[in-house]
Amino acid sequence: MPPLKVTQDDLVGDLAALGVPRGGLLFVHSSLSAIGEVEGGADAVVDALLETLGPEGTLVVPTFTYADPHDYPDSINPNWIFDPANTHSGMGAVTNVVRKRDGALRSVHLWHSVAAIGPLAETVVTGNGKTWASAWDANSPMAWAFDNGASILMLGVPYQNLTAIHIWEVEFGVDYRETKFVTRRTPLPDGTLVPLASRVHARRDWHPGSDFNRFGERMENVGLVGLGHVGNAVARLFTAADAHEMARTMYEEDKAAFLKQDESITKLSYAHTISNVKGTQCVVDPAKAFPTPPATEEHAA
Ligand SMILES: CC(C)(COP(=O)(O)OP(=O)(O)OC[C@H]1O[C@@H](n2cnc3c(N)ncnc32)[C@H](O)[C@@H]1OP(=O)(O)O)[C@@H](O)C(=O)NCCC(=O)NCCS
Repeated sequence: MPPLKVTQDDLVGDLAALGVPRGGLLFVHSSLSAIGEVEGGADAVVDALLETLGPEGTLVVPTFTYADPHDYPDSINPNWIFDPANTHSGMGAVTNVVRKRDGALRSVHLWHSVAAIGPLAETVVTGNGKTWASAWDANSPMAWAFDNGASILMLGVPYQNLTAIHIWEVEFGVDYRETKFVTRRTPLPDGTLVPLASRVHARRDWHPGSDFNRFGERMENVGLVGLGHVGNAVARLFTAADAHEMARTMYEEDKAAFLKQDESITKLSYAHTISNVKGTQCVVDPAKAFPTPPATEEHAA
């Protein structure tokens, strides 16, 4: 079966039907291929998101830069340079379009930068008083967005990709992560390389792996998630405030709430979860996603 053909107008219609708030602050995790065959590719997805949000809205995406999360953080090349203008985002094609758009701003962190477009972009990304060394604490760009009215859209990807949980793990002081400062380099505008210290929250050796799908399933069961589709991608929309509250409740009930209980992670019941060599996608019909090389066993969900 050929992939679903999707235009920018289709995307705008689906995003509006899902309830993406016009004039809102929206944080998006995404997979382009899950959507189908998008005319105009990732550019059209970004245009559709901006059109749906309108001129008063602000779009924020993760532009994290680690090559492989399993390297993270200490084994990464000690000569690593984070250049906000040029360093590729490993979080998908949509995020690379956002970071390169005119007017986009990107925060400065070795691995966990974000990019934003819109009236709140400067406040999210470069606002006064930010603790630049951290992507995780209360003054970080993501925490600011989540504490100030952001909605979160999982566009064709599972809750397992929900970075907000890491922000709240830090807030709750989980014992399975440890704080480290890692220093690499970043260029000044004149090209001079200067040290850049970044605070990271590394897994302790005994960390069994995360299961954030369990959190998402609970959010869905109590009706806090707008469930729909954008093209062929399963789309899940919720407020960061609701998610934060749910995360707190689950953590108070069980200090291992965000960890794997056994070897597998919770299987999401809505639509289908598939994997390619790069990651895991949530789709309405696996046959209608953009064809990608199949996942190996080790990458499968
Ligand atoms: C890893 C991940 C990005 C892979 O998703 P993906 O759809 O395979 O990849 P992208 O979103 O980068 O989209 C590019 C792919 O879309 C497909 N594609 C190309 N043109 C396309 C088009 N016009 N329409 C639709 N898909 C197209 C191709 O398969 C392309 O892969 P290629 O560049 O290797 O050829 C995704 O699974 C994911 O995890 N996203 C969330 C990341 C995140 O926010 N993580 C948070 C921290 S855990």
